[in-house]
Amino acid sequence: MSELKTVLVTGASSGLGAQFCRALAKDGFTVVAAARRKEKLISLCEEITAAGGKAFPLALDVTDFTSFGSKIDEAESLAGPINCLVNNAGSSVSKRATDMTVEDFDFVVDLNLKAPYFLSTEMARRWIGSKMKGRIVNVGSISDRKTMPGHTVYGTTKSAIARLSQQFAREWVNQGICVNTLAPGYIKTELNAEYFDSPAGQQVAAFMPRKRVGKPSDLDQAIVYLCQDQEFLTGQTIALDDGQSL
Ligand SMILES: NC(=O)c1ccc[n+]([C@@H]2O[C@H](COP(=O)([O-])OP(=O)(O)OC[C@H]3O[C@@H](n4cnc5c(N)ncnc54)[C@H](OP(=O)(O)O)[C@@H]3O)[C@@H](O)[C@H]2O)c1
Repeated sequence: MSELKTVLVTGASSGLGAQFCRALAKDGFTVVAAARRKEKLISLCEEITAAGGKAFPLALDVTDFTSFGSKIDEAESLAGPINCLVNNAGSSVSKRATDMTVEDFDFVVDLNLKAPYFLSTEMARRWIGSKMKGRIVNVGSISDRKTMPGHTVYGTTKSAIARLSQQFAREWVNQGICVNTLAPGYIKTELNAEYFDSPAGQQVAAFMPRKRVGKPSDLDQAIVYLCQDQEFLTGQTIALDDGQSL
């Protein structure tokens, strides 16, 4: 059995993050489910526990960068040493590039890029210090390869996170740490449900090659694979998008 079996998932209170927790717990991982809305995390962890898995809620605002040391201590006191990190929390501000304010720009960059950077380096310092293996999965997006008006900063952060995974992978390649990006296509979640339920969104979905958007469970196998105890895959982006970018 893999020795990499304790995972911290950010943005776990809804959408992809909640489903990553379910899939990883089903595969035998002990899960720390982190986000700001703790009540949602508690019910997710109860659901996972009732299904026979192990999961613990952790209140975490990933833009509170100086809290990461104490938050990882808290996570490890709940679940034991963390050896996988899934940087999933993310969002966008839907505005034309010419309308974005400095505050909008900082909001997206802080959440989608700065948070994964500092959470990953906090984890890696610990793994390197204790000679532990580690896995990091950064959640990118189809926006790294397909432009979307109104999401210029979002798309830029998602390209940047794929590059960040490569840089981290290279720096830590001889320290047992693998870093990859999972870059999904459009999947209906809280992030975009209103849009995909609207006539405009339904029209966009109708023009996709398979005339549909995905569901969070479409990523189950990929997230489990990327968190597994294999070393040959590092610095890569897995583009899982149902052919939407073709
Ligand atoms: N859905 C798609 O089509 C799609 C496609 C490609 C990539 N993605 C990426 O997948 C990831 C998850 O998106 P989703 O679709 O699942 O969206 P979602 O349902 O809106 O989930 C976003 C998650 O991020 C958390 N979050 C937001 N701000 C946070 C903060 N400051 N600190 C901690 N957690 C925070 C939210 O939890 P709280 O509000 O409780 O903190 C929530 O759990 C994002 O990185 C997104 O860019 C999504």
